[in-house]
Amino acid sequence: METKNKKIVIALAKGRLAEKTMEILEQVGIDCTDPKTQSRKLIFADKKNNIEFIMVKPTDVPVYVDHGVADIGVAGKDTLLEADLSVYEMADLKLAACKLCVAGYPVNKKRLTSSILRVATKYPNVARKYYAEKNETIEIIKLNGSIELAPILNLSDVIVDIVESGRTLKENGLVVTEDIADISARLIVNRVSLKTKSERITPLIEKIKAVVKEK
Ligand code: PRP
Repeated sequence: METKNKKIVIALAKGRLAEKTMEILEQVGIDCTDPKTQSRKLIFADKKNNIEFIMVKPTDVPVYVDHGVADIGVAGKDTLLEADLSVYEMADLKLAACKLCVAGYPVNKKRLTSSILRVATKYPNVARKYYAEKNETIEIIKLNGSIELAPILNLSDVIVDIVESGRTLKENGLVVTEDIADISARLIVNRVSLKTKSERITPLIEKIKAVVKEK
């Protein structure tokens, strides 16, 4: 089947990660002039290469790729672990590196008030799986941001969250108590697209991997 000229749709996580991703894409010959314009548009194109970019919320990148609306996407490993969808993870772009951790008060200040550990997090699936593997019964408290507030206000005993510089924890008197996973941005591909558009997608992935390796 002729796949050379089929359009490729790339889902980018709006914000800083999109900017860093576009730097890599430009190095493999993709023209990102259009998406770099900072406009409020959500769909852009590199017409010459027959590539379309869609700008989506970071947590939605795997959803668009899983459904095949986008062939390729760039998402944080944290988002991928939480979404747990059947997309192919093809490359580690080594961008936005951080850790997914359990954090709370230092042991000497432990504020464990209930028999069941209360865990506040933006990552309920990751947290549930992590504690299930440890055979620990927990209560999940799903929050959408400022997770560090939860132990301070005794809404939870610990948090499961991203730690990058460690500043937010430090400035709120919390510490990392357990590491869960190393996180960075990953290149993901739709399972069907990898087969039906392989002539375009496979060389593109190889070029991207080479650029990342050089860094
Ligand atoms: C993330 C994360 C931590 C913070 C970690 O929050 O949830 O709060 O960054 O970064 P640090 O270790 O460098 O301090 P984000 O900035 O995305 O905001 P949010 O709290 O609204 O989720």
